[in-house]
Amino acid sequence: MTTMGTKETQETTTLQIEQIIRRNILSLKPYSCAREEFSGQDVTLLDANENPYDTGYNRYPDPYQQELKQSLARLKGVKTEQMVLGNGSDELIDMLIRTTCEPNRDNIIVFSPSYSMYEVSGHINAVEVRSLKLGTDFMPPWEQLFHAVDARTRAIFFCTPNNPTGNRWPLEKIREVADRFEGLVIVDEAYMDFVQGGESAVSLLQEFPRVVVLQTLSKAWGLAGLRIGICMGNPILVNYLNRVKPPYNIGGLTQRTALNALEDTTAFYERVAEIVSERKTLYEAFGKMTLFTKVYPSEANFLLLCTPQYKEVYDYLVAHDIVVRIRHLPPLIEGGLRITVGTPKENVHLLELLANYTRT
Ligand SMILES: Cc1ncc(COP(=O)(O)O)c(C=O)c1O
Repeated sequence: MTTMGTKETQETTTLQIEQIIRRNILSLKPYSCAREEFSGQDVTLLDANENPYDTGYNRYPDPYQQELKQSLARLKGVKTEQMVLGNGSDELIDMLIRTTCEPNRDNIIVFSPSYSMYEVSGHINAVEVRSLKLGTDFMPPWEQLFHAVDARTRAIFFCTPNNPTGNRWPLEKIREVADRFEGLVIVDEAYMDFVQGGESAVSLLQEFPRVVVLQTLSKAWGLAGLRIGICMGNPILVNYLNRVKPPYNIGGLTQRTALNALEDTTAFYERVAEIVSERKTLYEAFGKMTLFTKVYPSEANFLLLCTPQYKEVYDYLVAHDIVVRIRHLPPLIEGGLRITVGTPKENVHLLELLANYTRT
């Protein structure tokens, strides 16, 4: 490609992205953190109104979490400038809507049932939420989707593997949507690490500047308490998200703890393998229980099952100190319970309790 070609491509990309950024964000003069322009060491820091006495935490953390991003970028096969980190992906979902959607004017498309925060964040931001029902195969209605899109549609939220159904949505289909749709295609891959042998939507980022992939350290990495969500996308879009992001959205202790945890990839792979293996054990065991009318296969760390006695089973488990999630979402999911895969010991206990329930 010639230099001119590259420049033209860059200009087209900028245009494609700027089309979907809110006007006030396009013209926003963002908050500039103290020390942003400065990277020296061994200096006297009198610029940020911090307390000078060392408590371990008296300094503000790196607002762009560069060290943590370097580690994550290596892991995910992207560049640090393609990344925004959030206080959990929940913060990123809100930031994506806030950066692109004009309140009381624009709309987003979500699927139902799926992760409900897309809808909640849409409503918080006074954005119309167009919710399309999944088919009986738990797949989005791929063609109908385009009937719901209009000039005010800013984003479509895909969740794969989907919560609570546990199935994956074909990347090829999402790719086709990215090819046709002129807004943001958000692919939430919170459970992607539990998928065996699947390709991530990260592979679409190079080709489609309006595709964004969300991942999180809350699930497979076992760091839900830290609150770290990862948004990967085009650097131009990332730049706009950084303007909207609260300056110090991830604390210093959190950044350091996550950095250390990411080093232990052996423990990570072991835990994921165990959860995947336990998922299979639970799936087979639930499948043999006459109590459940349906047990759906799952590529995530939970299973969705149905029973007409879902309320009684729920209460019975609570009475035995086990909490699961009711997902009775008729007509698609009748009497659904979503059960997270626990440790082998927890799973054995759960299966014993359910066997006893059936007997009584
Ligand atoms: C699909 C999906 N996305 C995002 C989240 C939230 O992730 P985080 O803990 O990073 O905010 C969840 C949590 O259950 C989820 O199921």
